Amino acid sequence: MWMEMPVWKMHTPQGIFHGRGSIRSLKTVVEDEKIARPFLVLDPAVEKTGFGGEIKNILENVQSFYWTGFTSDPTLTQVERGAVAFREVDADGLIAVGGGSAIDAAKMIAQKTGFPLLAAVPTTCGTGAECSPVAMIKDEKKVKKIAFRDPRFIPKWVILDAEGLTSLDRAFVAATALDTLSHVMETHLSQKSTGLVRVSTRGSLVSLGKNLAPAIFDQDPGALEVLLDVAFTARLLYPGTGLSIIHALAHPLGAYTGLHHGMAVALLTPPSLEFNLPFCGELMREIDDLLNVKSQQAKGTGAWVHRIVAESGMGTHIEQKLKKEEVPLDKIVNQAMESSNLPSNPRPVCGPKDLREVLERACACRHIF
Ligand SMILES: [Fe+2]
Repeated sequence: MWMEMPVWKMHTPQGIFHGRGSIRSLKTVVEDEKIARPFLVLDPAVEKTGFGGEIKNILENVQSFYWTGFTSDPTLTQVERGAVAFREVDADGLIAVGGGSAIDAAKMIAQKTGFPLLAAVPTTCGTGAECSPVAMIKDEKKVKKIAFRDPRFIPKWVILDAEGLTSLDRAFVAATALDTLSHVMETHLSQKSTGLVRVSTRGSLVSLGKNLAPAIFDQDPGALEVLLDVAFTARLLYPGTGLSIIHALAHPLGAYTGLHHGMAVALLTPPSLEFNLPFCGELMREIDDLLNVKSQQAKGTGAWVHRIVAESGMGTHIEQKLKKEEVPLDKIVNQAMESSNLPSNPRPVCGPKDLREVLERACACRHIF
């Protein structure tokens, strides 16, 4: 029997280089696209690593410009400055190297400079920004993260080389990995999810169950590479399905407190799953099974996420950012109520009270990590 499914669509990069050493394909991209003056939006932390040095070596015979003038959660002011710098050096192509902040900043610089060619090299294992048509940019005056959407934000070329991942701090590997886990789970549970989407999310959940802990706690290179791959495929899928209250709340929580996006997601995941459970019990049990959380001695996925947060050293970062008196719960909830992710949440959100309860429970956990 046919089941009624929502119509779903996806946009993809035109070309993808994948595998260890694929960073050397950057030269091919620059040559094939006839970029004479590439403008690299480069994560300052990556610039100091061997991977950053390798990129500079690859482009040593090209007149390249390196711009690092952005922070985690890039702002409208920063991307405006980036666009000015791009024009000043008369650059003719954009290459983003870094996590979601670098890639989203490059997307907005592209928008402000007539959409020159954009290529992306992700160096974290969790954002998937390299294949998303969305750029999250902070409006510092309104204290709000704005989701800019445009299919032209999807980089034409993506290079997925796990060599770039190996120098990350454990708490940040955990944060980006749990963000990816959340993307996959929210996509799987979404009211707008489809059979095609769930074929992929099921495989991703099995891969995450096997590789999440070794990537975080052992920095296992093979496991990190799997996370990079899952982050990429998950982000390809979910713009068509929407996410859930986890991301609806995580964006304003990050905007108001400065908490890292992946940490905000990790903190919100257990109480959000619990909130949704009565409306997606069967799918949630399937997620528990696919992740094989029983083998991790966890009662369920929420408990497993909670333990990873506690054991990965994320607690110190969360405690620093979320001092109780400085978390404006009502403002965060009001922004979350406007999120485009609410309609896809498995359980209908009846009003601000629902979100406030989830947020309060998440924030209450910060003391026990
Ligand atoms: Fe996310």
